[in-house]
Amino acid sequence: MVNVVGARPNFMKIAPIIRAMEARCDEISQSLVHTGQHYDEMMSESFFRDLDIPAPEINLNTGSGSHAEQTAAVMLSFEPVLRQMRPDWVFVTGDVNSTLASALVAGKMKINVAHVEAGLRSFDWTMPEELNRVLTDRISELLFTPSPEADENLLREGIEPHRIVRVGNVMIDTLYHQLESAGRSEILETLALEPRSFAVVTLHRPASVDEPATLQNLFSALAEIGRELPVVFPAHPRTQARMREFGIQPVKEVRVIDPLGYLDFLKLWSNSRLVLTDSGGLQEETTTLAIPCLTLRDNTERPITIIQGTNHLVGLERERIVTIARKVLRGEFENKGSRPELWDGHAAERIVDALIERTGNVQPQLLNLKAVQ
Ligand code: UD1
Repeated sequence: MVNVVGARPNFMKIAPIIRAMEARCDEISQSLVHTGQHYDEMMSESFFRDLDIPAPEINLNTGSGSHAEQTAAVMLSFEPVLRQMRPDWVFVTGDVNSTLASALVAGKMKINVAHVEAGLRSFDWTMPEELNRVLTDRISELLFTPSPEADENLLREGIEPHRIVRVGNVMIDTLYHQLESAGRSEILETLALEPRSFAVVTLHRPASVDEPATLQNLFSALAEIGRELPVVFPAHPRTQARMREFGIQPVKEVRVIDPLGYLDFLKLWSNSRLVLTDSGGLQEETTTLAIPCLTLRDNTERPITIIQGTNHLVGLERERIVTIARKVLRGEFENKGSRPELWDGHAAERIVDALIERTGNVQPQLLNLKAVQ
């Protein structure tokens, strides 16, 4: 079994899978490959520490680049690794470029691919992640889904029902597993914040941060909200770079800080009054702990967080963002929502159970890792 990670959201998804495989190590042997898509200490290494993920056997060190460069770099460097390792399965998670690139390499080598977080669809083909999701699902032999509408999307696309296994949400496995440790984080003291009295913002998608007018407009909305309560914005390196490039000056109402590690960030958002984000994972995490979330996008691939959870899709327009944020702050959306079925902290165990049930014993041949390092 080869587990692949590349970018920040992959780390919290693979951590429980590695743990669940480890618990069945007499039946499954596993290796971890890091593509190196994310490489900064706070985008990668800190997550290995916070989430107790073992060091990867191999780091492909592919780094940043255009979509084609990044995808091609992962493919070129992953192929010889797989040729050496010859696993029975390659496990990929989520929808980042590393997910698609590694699935494509494995698929072409006739190695089974398992996709964790399969079936999510925004139906927005301008999102790079939508291409990654659809194509990875098409290549995958086993599709582990988090929610019923993901199953429906896959069935509609002609995926055979026996390849789809609804297991729940592995990101939520990590959330529950780490809540206690996050409780010990001192980030609120460090930032001098009182629980439930501040808002947290994250923005990093090209649609939110790559156009000067859009990013300026979002800052203007955040500044307006910042007049009502402190707004803390741990900013992705891409967002910080765009702010510099567009000459967007920091405003006193919005506290822009560097990205936080998993535990500090969990402590921060789970104690906030309101989250504003364009992230996918945070929509799910806030729903799980019933924290109000405004998603600053025009669509979401995670509609269950709106139908059942605490998420509101508000778009990118200043007035609408401010109006809905004020409603939340006035307590007008006190319906706390409910946690989706199977988002219970045991999704990864269900994945490993299903894998063993379907494939029998999956001990691969002895890996000769030295030759490819
Ligand atoms: C990627 C994923 C996105 C995910 C996000 C989480 C794709 C297509 N996108 O977007 O779905 O939500 O990760 O963070 O895979 N950079 C650094 N240090 C790093 C990594 C990146 O400074 O460790 C900067 C570089 O300038 C780089 C830019 O961020 O060019 C973008 O990084 P990239 O990996 O291409 O995409 P993300 O925006 O991080």
